[in-house]
Amino acid sequence: MKPDPHVFVVIGATGDLTSRKLIPALHTLVAHDDGETYVVGAATTVQDDAAFRATGVEALARTGVDRASAESWAADHLYYVPVPAEGGYDPLARRVEQIERDHGLAGNRVIYLALPPAAFPAAIAAVGAAGLQGGPGWTRLVVEKPFGSDLGSARLLNEVVHAHFAEDEVYRIDHYLGKETVRNLLVFRFTNTLFESSWNRDRIERVEITVAESLGVGRRGRYYDSAGVIRDMIQSHITQLLTLVAMEAPPAFDATAIRDEKVKVLRSIRSIPAEAYVLGQYGDGVVEGSAVRGYRTLPGVADGSSTPTYAAVRVWIDNWRWQGVPFLLRTGKGLARRVTEIAVTFRRPPVCLYHRVPDGCVGHSDVLYLTIQPDEGFSLEIDVKEPGDIDAVRTIPLHFSYSEAFGDIPDAYETLIADVLEGDQTLFVRADEVEESWRLYTPALGYELPVHPYPAGTWGPDQSAALLAADSDRWATGDDGEDAHRGR
Ligand code: BG6
Repeated sequence: MKPDPHVFVVIGATGDLTSRKLIPALHTLVAHDDGETYVVGAATTVQDDAAFRATGVEALARTGVDRASAESWAADHLYYVPVPAEGGYDPLARRVEQIERDHGLAGNRVIYLALPPAAFPAAIAAVGAAGLQGGPGWTRLVVEKPFGSDLGSARLLNEVVHAHFAEDEVYRIDHYLGKETVRNLLVFRFTNTLFESSWNRDRIERVEITVAESLGVGRRGRYYDSAGVIRDMIQSHITQLLTLVAMEAPPAFDATAIRDEKVKVLRSIRSIPAEAYVLGQYGDGVVEGSAVRGYRTLPGVADGSSTPTYAAVRVWIDNWRWQGVPFLLRTGKGLARRVTEIAVTFRRPPVCLYHRVPDGCVGHSDVLYLTIQPDEGFSLEIDVKEPGDIDAVRTIPLHFSYSEAFGDIPDAYETLIADVLEGDQTLFVRADEVEESWRLYTPALGYELPVHPYPAGTWGPDQSAALLAADSDRWATGDDGEDAHRGR
């Protein structure tokens, strides 16, 4: 769909996000469609339009755009206004109005905050004071994660936002919601009745959500040491995945209906006690063949820091569908391999005809793996009869791969920006959703929990196995057995 002509204001435009993601995405989305976007970058760096355009040209050239056409596009569509750190956005507002007049635009504006979270409140107040949000057309505010650092700060930030913007003008980004495979969760669940009719406590034994990163914290030590894994990953990305897996079918496929259902899941989650967490921090190790220095050696990390880089959490959802089914959430930096996956383990047969051993029944449960990255797709493990032996049973995967079926997958940012331009809030986090999510995890920020060391390149502290149900001693994702089943 061709978006309405608009001005796209990026506050914090000299950061990496603008050149790496925003300019290429706008170029692809709008220029190719013959649409009209005028990007106005604003930041404290004092520079002119030409300097900003040069950055834009480099950004586009890196994505394969021909340099001559990148230069001509940048000359027509990129502008820059320096702004003071403490606010005072009047010159920015006047420039936006001027561009709208010059190009005969109707006054539609996107205001994108590409800033460190601590700068959000002052920037939103400055936008309001300069009247940037008051154009004659539509206005949409886009805010990056993290939205607040606990329940109190998230509420305050929502108040600041709502002083200047209505909720239906606000687009809180969680880039996981822009991933094609995450969006596919809804399609998978609500078009395939085969699975949906088994998607409950009667058929499912447990659900594991793993976001394992092989990379460490790298150059983000200063930010990460004050954030930690619960703020950085659990409260946002992992909880978003949890809501999509656990929600009821919405009455319609629209932003209100879907987000209402997600909020209901969050409200049904039982408060999470300290015993439900296992935290860890990576030390020196070897990741995928290369030596990695431990977290505490990174620049920006405090001496002897106890900030966790790994968390495993057991969560219970007190509703009719999920009562008694553990949801096991797990994420960490410096782990053995990069994989984001949801593993749904089905119950075993009530009577044991196969897999018998002298004192009972062992064996495998059917597991459905929904792999978000990097091998996007799904895999359903089922038992089949092996030829030969009368009762020899083997577990084999039924496998679907996104890349085999569809080739390249679009970038999450491109998808989300396209939605902002179309005014579709479905994949953005609503105010009540962000607060409900913080309500769940804010207590943990105050718990005095041990932070277990683990060597980089492993699957995190062994203590996390204690969170698994009594009849399972290993996580479905990441252990050797699982890799063997899927032929990796
Ligand atoms: C970000 C976190 O939001 O998501 C990072 O701040 C993390 O710490 C990243 O590495 C993970 O995103 P992806 O898309 O690489 O899985």
